[in-house]
Amino acid sequence: MKLVKLTREQIIRRVVVFGVLAALICPGLYNKLKVVNYTLESDKITTPVRIALVTDLHSCKYGDHESELIAAIDSQSPDVILLGGDIFDDKLPNDNTVDFLSGIAGRYPVYYVTGNHEFWGGVDQYDVQMSILDDLGIPRLQGDVLSLNINGNSIGLVGVDDYDSHLVDSELILENQFVDAYLNLDASSYNIILSHRPEYFDTYTAQDYDLALCGHAHGGQWRIPGILNGLYAPNQGLFPKYAGGLYEEDGTTMIVSRGLARESTMIPRLYNRPELVIIDLV
Ligand SMILES: [Fe+2]
Repeated sequence: MKLVKLTREQIIRRVVVFGVLAALICPGLYNKLKVVNYTLESDKITTPVRIALVTDLHSCKYGDHESELIAAIDSQSPDVILLGGDIFDDKLPNDNTVDFLSGIAGRYPVYYVTGNHEFWGGVDQYDVQMSILDDLGIPRLQGDVLSLNINGNSIGLVGVDDYDSHLVDSELILENQFVDAYLNLDASSYNIILSHRPEYFDTYTAQDYDLALCGHAHGGQWRIPGILNGLYAPNQGLFPKYAGGLYEEDGTTMIVSRGLARESTMIPRLYNRPELVIIDLV
């Protein structure tokens, strides 16, 4: 190997460049959980309702027995917890997810919809994961419309499976669940759809949901705050339209959680901290 002797000026220049790059990148790799709050106003809400939206945990670890994530939820005192898919993973073991679900089941009303990764591990793994939900008494929504009374408000809660549900059961068709739910909606209620995929925003809007809650995009993995809201998201590609945040169209609001996936992904998140989403309906 040939050694190159650098001048003092070259060494200083390289150190400065390294320092600037490190300063730029390191804060971006800071992956501590954060709580992101939204407040939505509606004439259909008479008494405030607080929703916790958890998506894309992918069985990642948040402290001993998921204590960090559970404590973050407890600190917000939600009226209901909605689990928006990919809470399990197809590659990582179920342990962290089991800890998390065990820590909230029975303490809050909790509702679950699947993401694509619950279907990517094959039928046997899927059966195990769904039986964990059953054992903990966590309802899974598959085109159901639940009429909930939360703090005196009439809330219609719809949940649908992920698009990839047909991979384990040919009868689980997302489009059919959209139709089933739509036919049973009560327009006078505040209607929420919990669905893993944000790219169906047009459907949520066409079906007049007040609120759609989604995940899947992982915040576009890399962000540049104020400049780029996400570089890449599955099923949306480069520069995804719905990488994360709040979107509004024709009376429907969609909130896309940037999710909680950390060690499950090969490429680290950049300026894209994992998030617990809290929504206040007022
Ligand atoms: Fe997903």
